[in-house]
Amino acid sequence: MPTLLHLDSSPLENSISRELTREFVKIWKTAHPDGTVIDRDLTVQPPKPLDAAWVSSAYTPEAARTPEQKAALAVSDELIAELEQADEYIVGVAMHNFSIPSVLKLWIDQIARRGRTFDYDETGVRGLLQGKKATIVIASGGVYELGTPAGAMNFVEPYLKALLGFLGVTDAKFVTASGASQVMQGKVDRGTFLQPALEQVRRVAA
Ligand SMILES: Cc1cc2nc3c(=O)[nH]c(=O)nc-3n(C[C@H](O)[C@H](O)[C@H](O)COP(=O)(O)O)c2cc1C
Repeated sequence: MPTLLHLDSSPLENSISRELTREFVKIWKTAHPDGTVIDRDLTVQPPKPLDAAWVSSAYTPEAARTPEQKAALAVSDELIAELEQADEYIVGVAMHNFSIPSVLKLWIDQIARRGRTFDYDETGVRGLLQGKKATIVIASGGVYELGTPAGAMNFVEPYLKALLGFLGVTDAKFVTASGASQVMQGKVDRGTFLQPALEQVRRVAA
């Protein structure tokens, strides 16, 4: 039975990235009537920032962890279990200050764990989330075409691509809805703006 992990990180209710991930989930459910969707809205209960207890627990071998150390990793364990359980991920990302929303960074810090989602061997780093598919939907106010001066300020897609690859998720597709500020300013109708990204999302989800 296929499982989809659905993550959202925009703080806004009428968010563009949320509308696109919702559409992805709708199409995915039609394509996988027997599938399961795990919804994880990172703004509802944002993961806590890493602290000293988390770091020392994560780097203590599992068998040697005290009950307190195990408790310090409980949220991380739960979030990693969702990634392991799912075959596919859909992630909604709002560009904030040229980067990702802070709740998404908090989630990444919880799930990037040596021995669980990545490891090192004699050949170097090895991502442990093998055989997964990811679709990342990014909404931004501006347009960040590669090769333009603005493109150099887009730290969202390159960062997430690098991170996913590091964790072993090499089958990652990116759908961008850039230029959303035109919608906010009333220069472009929301439906018209969303159309190309919606079509892309529908294609990928099916
Ligand atoms: C706090 C904040 C910071 C933002 N920073 C940027 C930015 O650095 N670059 C940009 O192009 N748009 C920026 N925007 C605009 C958003 O990327 C845009 O509104 C996008 O639609 C957000 O995704 P969402 O609709 O899913 O929330 C920012 C918006 C907010 C609220």
